[in-house]
Amino acid sequence: MSLFLDAAWGKFTERAPVWMMRQAGRYLPEYRAIKEHLSFWEMCRTPEVACAITLQPVKRLGVDAAILFQDIMTPLPSMGIDIQFNPGPVIESPLRSSAQIEALRLSEKTEIAPFVAEAIKLIRQESPVPLIGFGGAPLTLATYLIQGGGSKDYAEFRQFLRYAPEAAHALLDKLTVLSIRYLSMQVEAGAQAIQLFDSWAGLHSAGMYAQFARPYNQRIFEALAVYKIPRIYIAVEAAHLYPEINQLNCEVVSIDWRLPIDQVRPQLAGKTIQGNLDPAILLAPKEVISTETKRVLREGLGGAHIFNLGHGIFRQTDPNHAKHMIETVKSFDRTKARELVLR
Ligand code: CP3
Repeated sequence: MSLFLDAAWGKFTERAPVWMMRQAGRYLPEYRAIKEHLSFWEMCRTPEVACAITLQPVKRLGVDAAILFQDIMTPLPSMGIDIQFNPGPVIESPLRSSAQIEALRLSEKTEIAPFVAEAIKLIRQESPVPLIGFGGAPLTLATYLIQGGGSKDYAEFRQFLRYAPEAAHALLDKLTVLSIRYLSMQVEAGAQAIQLFDSWAGLHSAGMYAQFARPYNQRIFEALAVYKIPRIYIAVEAAHLYPEINQLNCEVVSIDWRLPIDQVRPQLAGKTIQGNLDPAILLAPKEVISTETKRVLREGLGGAHIFNLGHGIFRQTDPNHAKHMIETVKSFDRTKARELVLR
C-alpha cells in the first residue's frame, strides 16, 4: 500500500499524502519545452509523451500520486465530436438538438481511446507512486458539449436543461455509458484510483443537481465498485451540494478552499477529505505558503486527509513554491499534531 491509497481508503495516516490538481502543466518549464513541438492532442495521443508529462511533477516535486496526463475531453472524439483546444476546449458544432444527440456513437471500451491504455501501462512501469486515472462527470462534459466551450455563466447550457430536459437526459445517459467504459478501461490498464471531475456542478441548485447529476455520477461509481479502487469526486464552489454529494458511493471528496476542512468534514461523514489550499496561496511569499499549508493540515486532523489544492494550480506558479508547499506537508507529523490538539 501507499500513503495516498491508505488515506483514500479512510486511514488516518501519520503524514498527509500530497498531490496537486493540474500538477502536469504549463507552470513547469519541462512541460512548456514539450509543448513547443507538439499540439495538446498530440501530447495526449502519444503514449510515451503522455507518460513523460505525467511523471514530470513526480520527479521534480516528489508528489505522492501521479495523475494521468489527458483531458476530460479525451474520450469524446470517439463519439464523433470534433474538439479543439484554445487553450480550453472548443466544440466545432455544439450539441443543440435531439438528432445530434442520437447520432453520437458509443464505442467499445477498448476502442474509445486505446492510446490511454498504452500510456497507463508505460506509467505503471516507471512510476514510483500510485497512478490516478480520471474522467469528466456527465453533467460537466454536457456543459462543454452543449455550450460549445468555456463561458462565464453557461447560459445556453442552462437554457437547454430547461427547454429540452429529455434531450439533456438522453445525452447524460450516453455520457454515463461512455464514462463507465472509459474509466473501466483505465482501471483494467492499471489506474489505481479514479477521480471524477464535476467542475461545473456547482453552478446548479441542489434540486437541479439531484435531477441532472447525482443519478449519473452514482451509476458511474457503482459500476466502478467491482474494481475495489478508491473513487474520488470533485465539484467546485459546491458547498450547497454537500448533502447530495455525501450520498455518492465514493471514498474521497475533494473540496475547494472556500470553507475550512473541519467545518466541511461533518457534512461528508465517512469520506476522506482531499484539499483544500487556495491555489492563489502558491503565488504568495514562501512564509505565507508555510503558514497556510500548516493551517490546512491542522484543519484536516479530524480524520483521513489527502493534501491538495482546492482547484488547479495557476500557470504563473513558481515550481519552487509548489515544492515548498509539498515539503511543508511532508514535514508535518499528524500523529504528534493531533496529540497536541487533543491535550
Ligand atoms: O495534471 C493534471 O491534473 C492532469 C491533466 C489534466 C488536464 N486537464 C490537462 C490540461 C486534467 C486532470 C484536466 C481536467 C480538466 N480539463 C478539467 C477538470 C479540472 C478542472 O480544472 O476543473 C476541465 C474543466 C478541463 C477542460 C480544460 N482543458 C480547460 C478548462 C482547459 C484550459 C485550461 C487553462 O489553464 O487554460 C484545458 C486544457 C488543458 N488540459 C491544459 C492541460 C495541461 C492546458 C493546455 C495547454 O498546455 O495549453
